[in-house]
Amino acid sequence: METTSRTAATAADTILVIGAGGQLGLELTHELRQLYGASNVVAADVREPKNDEVQQAGPFELLDVLDKPRLEDVIRHYKPKQVYHLAALLSATAEKNPKFGWQLNMDGLFNVLDAAIDLGVQQVYWPSSIAVFGPDTPRHNTPQLTVMNPNTVYGISKLAGEQWCEWYFRKHKLDVRSLRYPGLIGYKSLPGGGTTDYAVDIYHKAVAGQPYECFLKADTYLPMMYMPDALQATLDLMHAPADGLTVRSSYNLGAMSFSPEEVATSIRRHYPDFHISYQPDSRQQIADSWPASIDDAQARKDWGWQPQFDLNKMTDDMLLHLRLRQPVAEAIHVA
Ligand code: SER
Repeated sequence: METTSRTAATAADTILVIGAGGQLGLELTHELRQLYGASNVVAADVREPKNDEVQQAGPFELLDVLDKPRLEDVIRHYKPKQVYHLAALLSATAEKNPKFGWQLNMDGLFNVLDAAIDLGVQQVYWPSSIAVFGPDTPRHNTPQLTVMNPNTVYGISKLAGEQWCEWYFRKHKLDVRSLRYPGLIGYKSLPGGGTTDYAVDIYHKAVAGQPYECFLKADTYLPMMYMPDALQATLDLMHAPADGLTVRSSYNLGAMSFSPEEVATSIRRHYPDFHISYQPDSRQQIADSWPASIDDAQARKDWGWQPQFDLNKMTDDMLLHLRLRQPVAEAIHVA
């Protein structure tokens, strides 16, 4: 993967990724290790990752971000210049466990921001989400600055987190950077507990030759992004010169917008018999409160954001890679 510039960290700098076993963390850790050298990128997670690439390809630390003394020990030991703090409860899970969702998403962020200031970390990356928007927000082409009023625990915690990031930037000159990710879709790992996750599961079912029962309605449009674009955006933002950044809460970030029905149609170009049915559950309400598409003009202007993948291009790539991971007998079922 090409990145536009590499000014933020040099090859010898150390980087800490907290939540390295998650959907984004797994891929970001891999990408950072390619860029900076495996031994310079410390992966940390609350659990031993199921995918042992994270653990075996470079340094790994078991770390609960709510355990501040342990977090500080890890930072003191490795002296990272950058920390990527990705540990969070996603929307559907946080709705089921609101107090813990709030605690993990907020106290975890405070621990990282405070430790960064106290221990001399230069840059912090923290992901926000389309969940910061709510039912009062303009749904189409949602602007960077608009009515927010999120109505999920996850969204409330992300919006509060954004404001805190901006506050730490203003008050403490901490170089915090953030993106409002749309739903992220990748083939390397399964996401956990998100409302947009149907768009990952559906591909796994298609490749396994199984029908898919979707928990959202057929015509539910949400902003989405393929993982390579998300990685590119993250690294481009982190490498961008600080004086060009006008947003210190979190940047709107868009790539594509589609509905479950459109994903199924895209999949049928490869698997004509693929069957989808719809059984909306509580996640429908969450999806209905979020934007359908995002205006990311500020990100394009400030640091040159430009997505590469649309729905069909993503579908082709997802299916190709998932098939390569299938047993041989199923892998011969190619379009
Ligand atoms: N993908 C997230 C979720 O569905 C939104 O940022 O919770």
